[in-house]
Amino acid sequence: MKNILSFVEKSKQNYLDELKTLLAIPSVSSQSKYNPDTRKCAEWVRDQFKKIGMTKSQIFETPGHPIVYSELISDPKKPTILFYGHYDVQPVDPINLWTTPPFESNIRDGNLFARGSADDKGQIFIHFKAIEAILKHERELPINIKMLIEGEEEVGSVNLENFVKANKKMLKADLVLISDSAMYAKGLPSICYGLRGLAYMEIEVVGPNRDLHSGSFGGAVHNPIQALSEIIASLHDEKGRVNIPGFYNDVQKVTSKERQAFKRLPFSDKKYMKDLGVGELYGEVGYSTNERTWVRPTLECNGIWGGYIEQGAKTVLPSKASAKISMRLVPNQSSKKMEKLFTNHIKKIAPKSVKVTVKALHGGEAVVTPLESAGVKAAASALNKAFGKKPLFQREGGSIPIVVQFKHLLGLDTVLLGFGLPDENAHSPDEHLNLDNFFGGIRTAIYFYYELKNYIKKT
Ligand code: BES
Ligand code: MN
Ligand code: MN
Repeated sequence: MKNILSFVEKSKQNYLDELKTLLAIPSVSSQSKYNPDTRKCAEWVRDQFKKIGMTKSQIFETPGHPIVYSELISDPKKPTILFYGHYDVQPVDPINLWTTPPFESNIRDGNLFARGSADDKGQIFIHFKAIEAILKHERELPINIKMLIEGEEEVGSVNLENFVKANKKMLKADLVLISDSAMYAKGLPSICYGLRGLAYMEIEVVGPNRDLHSGSFGGAVHNPIQALSEIIASLHDEKGRVNIPGFYNDVQKVTSKERQAFKRLPFSDKKYMKDLGVGELYGEVGYSTNERTWVRPTLECNGIWGGYIEQGAKTVLPSKASAKISMRLVPNQSSKKMEKLFTNHIKKIAPKSVKVTVKALHGGEAVVTPLESAGVKAAASALNKAFGKKPLFQREGGSIPIVVQFKHLLGLDTVLLGFGLPDENAHSPDEHLNLDNFFGGIRTAIYFYYELKNYIKKT
């Protein structure tokens, strides 16, 4: 162990140089102009697996972006980890708000800036280096490991479910391990045990059959931008609750024990507001900030467009307006059911003056993982050793749609061992990863692999 850890210590610069080459590939899964790069990124991951000493390393085609799978099985008596992560990244827009270009890594104040540094390339790379470091010093890993790295997580993992269904035997394991979430705060490592689900919708509002002169027609025709704004504004009430009848029907209530545990976590609304530059917080009355983002369902408008948005003024009453709206879901809500609920509600409230169409883009279910599992115990011990601090237990507001499928299809619980931080700008300009957490993550992964056999005994 000592040799392995001092090797990691010595390799820090090499790790950063190599990670930069992964971060330089613009594998934006939602934009087809990047398809060649996305494939190149899958190939990079496949080649990386060969380089670090994995035996099997293979690209699997899907109707969308390729899946990379690799494994190293040394002894059926050892515990087997199914590691899951994603090599795809979110779009970079608005590009002009990046301090340095998103696909050219830049280190400032102990942070590595690049799209994908925290979500999720930097975090999968942590495990690549942990495996490599062990194999450089030992003949074998202390575990069997199966690595499943997909290229469509940021677009809802639409082809992964079929892959898992078709490869149940190959993916057989004792637990799933994912590093694609955040620690509670700097210096406070944590284990995440809950994620929200998602239902992602798009609304299009069509008014007149063509764009009109806003002077000649304005006042006589319902402007689709206005109609859409009225619809969106009506979706929350004055208590910050989602104003769709039935929206909360299936919601699993949080226990008072869990609410008490949340209360004990260090949190300051004041600091949160200051960091975000907002003068007041907004949300469902009666819930704390952590509760609002972790255990309550919510609805957000992610984007809205229509009419003239180029330079200067153009007087126009546009024919169309659109918006992208997502609902974050909590345990016991069904994304399919919520898609229907949303669609029917929008149709019902749409004024006769416009035509409204609603489309569901993708979805996934919320998950809560058991805290007593062997994997969680091993992870807690590993974090304690690597960061010198016992981890906190937290839930998160984001979504990883496949986690529920791992449980349903493979019967596996997931350990969410994240090394990002909540303020690292995932999905936004200047995404970065803290380097202490990056190197601490490599140490944690190594400890975790060794700890696991103390908690999972096979006969
Ligand atoms: N890594 C995130 C999920 C996440 C975010 C976990 C924050 C914990 C905290 C993941 O890459 C992600 O962004 N997922 C999408 C899912 C979607 C596109 C189906 C999300 O949450 O928006
Ligand atoms: Mn991610
Ligand atoms: Mn993401």
